[in-house]
Amino acid sequence: MSHSSNSHEPTIPQLFDLSGRVALVTGGCGHLGSAMCRALAEAGASVVVTSREASKAQALAETLPRTGSARHFGIALDHMNPDSLSASFQEAVSLAGAVDVVVNNGHEGLGADWSTVTAEEFSRHLGNATGYFLLSRLLRDHAVERGAAASVILLGSMYGVVGSYPDAYEEICSASPVAYHALKGGIVHMTRHLAVYWAKDRVRVNCLSPGPFPGPKAPAAMVERLLTKSPLRRMGTPSELKGPLVFLASDASSYVTGQNLIVDGGWTAW
Ligand SMILES: NC(=O)c1ccc[n+]([C@@H]2O[C@H](COP(=O)([O-])OP(=O)(O)OC[C@H]3O[C@@H](n4cnc5c(N)ncnc54)[C@H](OP(=O)(O)O)[C@@H]3O)[C@@H](O)[C@H]2O)c1
Repeated sequence: MSHSSNSHEPTIPQLFDLSGRVALVTGGCGHLGSAMCRALAEAGASVVVTSREASKAQALAETLPRTGSARHFGIALDHMNPDSLSASFQEAVSLAGAVDVVVNNGHEGLGADWSTVTAEEFSRHLGNATGYFLLSRLLRDHAVERGAAASVILLGSMYGVVGSYPDAYEEICSASPVAYHALKGGIVHMTRHLAVYWAKDRVRVNCLSPGPFPGPKAPAAMVERLLTKSPLRRMGTPSELKGPLVFLASDASSYVTGQNLIVDGGWTAW
């Protein structure tokens, strides 16, 4: 087989390889976050796992596979607290030497839907987006300072793009919170704004929007109803985000910025 005309073309393994890169994942011990940490480690990255509890993050970091010279770390980070964000980002840089990828995945949840949510609860929930922004800007400034490229990934949701079906929740649990829809719609759109402003800095910004990936505590009766709304007729499993995440984190997506990659089993397609 001749390679002569494509000698500078990266191969697929090279495009998805994260060896020598450092990725920081917020909420890295959660239902989806832990699969994301494994994905990045399996692709060769050093991973800085964060949790509001440092010991939890350290325990997860110890379970991650290590490729070559990769090393994993666990640190405390609370994205609702701007002081904690700066201190945690600096700690990540001190431990790992640099940060190339940030996955804004952590999420302070809210139970109250439109019928009961208070003004304070609504405003606090939107603060999740403030945290995503501040951490992303810390990465952007760090990348500019070291003259390196970087990739920011923000976790959106299919509920940042479509409303929910009232009948999926009725008489089982609260509806999906209105503040969550406002939050995730805002995150999808903030992605576009930051991507445009930071493109000249070689900082790509993309949104990864999961569809239904219910955790172990989700009410079974609600999940039964959600199944009827999914073209694939099944819920997502956390490992199904591993490929899309590594795509956005790596050079495989080097010409992709400002996009919302929806991984939802077709939910938003019909
Ligand atoms: N599961 C789904 O079906 C689904 C669908 C669409 C979108 N998403 C999005 O995917 C992301 C992960 O969801 P998940 O289902 O894996 O939820 P999860 O298991 O509850 O994980 C979220 C994690 O966020 C962390 N967290 C909470 N408050 C935080 C704060 N103030 N600062 C930083 N981290 C904080 C928590 O970790 P610690 O307690 O360790 O700090 C928690 O483990 C979220 O952004 C969510 O909106 C999920």
